[in-house]
Amino acid sequence: MLATRVEHETGPRWPYARQMVARSVTIIGPGAIGAAVGASLIDSGHDVSFASRTPFEVLDVTHPDGRVLQEIDCVSDPAAATISDTVMLAVKAHHTEAARPFLDAIVHAGTTLFVLQNGVEHIERLAPLVPAGVDIVPVVIALPAVRSAPGVVRTERQGLLSVPNSLGGKLLEELFVDSFIVAEAVDDWITAAWRKLLTNAASGGIGTLSRSDNRVLAADPDGRQLTLELMLEVAMVARAEGADLPDELAELMLDGLLENAGRHVASIVADRLAGAPTEWDARNAVINRIASRHGIDVPINKMITTLIRLGEPIEDGAP
Ligand SMILES: NC(=O)c1ccc[n+]([C@@H]2O[C@H](COP(=O)([O-])OP(=O)(O)OC[C@H]3O[C@@H](n4cnc5c(N)ncnc54)[C@H](OP(=O)(O)O)[C@@H]3O)[C@@H](O)[C@H]2O)c1
Repeated sequence: MLATRVEHETGPRWPYARQMVARSVTIIGPGAIGAAVGASLIDSGHDVSFASRTPFEVLDVTHPDGRVLQEIDCVSDPAAATISDTVMLAVKAHHTEAARPFLDAIVHAGTTLFVLQNGVEHIERLAPLVPAGVDIVPVVIALPAVRSAPGVVRTERQGLLSVPNSLGGKLLEELFVDSFIVAEAVDDWITAAWRKLLTNAASGGIGTLSRSDNRVLAADPDGRQLTLELMLEVAMVARAEGADLPDELAELMLDGLLENAGRHVASIVADRLAGAPTEWDARNAVINRIASRHGIDVPINKMITTLIRLGEPIEDGAP
């Protein structure tokens, strides 16, 4: 067994180092996010196992404070998986249904299931797939992470996971102690989720179609204007859902996003560049669905959704 190498600055990295109760956690879908989250949990002292389509034996995560390198348990056959009280699902939204054999094998009534996916429909997506009695906890992820091979992930920023302020949310807060990811239970999770969706739908959607990152949008006045108009559309829908997202905030968020435009390529853009299916439904089509329930017109988002969908790989539903 490789020794766990946790290389980081000396001394507490977070101002509020807390007492930690070690738990067993199972992560289904250890890609960029699942592997980074798993490494952070290992860093915090938990016992973490993995279930994935493509198995791997060594987790190698480079993060802002150092690196976690450890041999891990990873099953690729649902028949070899065991039930768990604490589960994190981090497959892409469009792979949720395909991950059902793992959910069937690992999740039971009484499991707390954290859904680490973009969008705002975590509960609607998972509720039909798991038994009654599962606490489904939606998670907003602010953690740019890139996977270069199975189990090999790099993240250059400290991560933040936002969850509703519930029993499950409090549990997530407690799981991440003194590591490079922090979890925060927030009173207004709807606003947190729609803020994330605002940028996912706009810069992610336009980036997918133009095959560009935010640096391109920042430099191009037409690209910036289109992104802003799309964000203002999404903000209208967000407010109808109860999010506190005034137009001025959308503009400020766009300014912040473009000013800080780094080299990170959004996961949906990376998937399009790789010719893989994208999360167009969870990140753009969802806004059309919710807008229509509220009688709100979102013509730009409808057009962006259709154009992304038309570019999907044939086997994943393109006409
Ligand atoms: N990456 C980011 O920077 C980032 C940031 C914020 C939010 N997010 C969101 O986080 C979520 C996860 O994204 P990601 O970037 O981590 O995705 P990813 O790198 O593609 O990882 C997905 C993982 O799920 C596995 N998987 C796929 N189908 C499966 C199945 N049927 N059963 C079991 N495992 C399966 C994949 O296995 P394979 O090894 O076979 O592919 C892979 O390990 C998405 O909703 C994304 O939008 C991502």
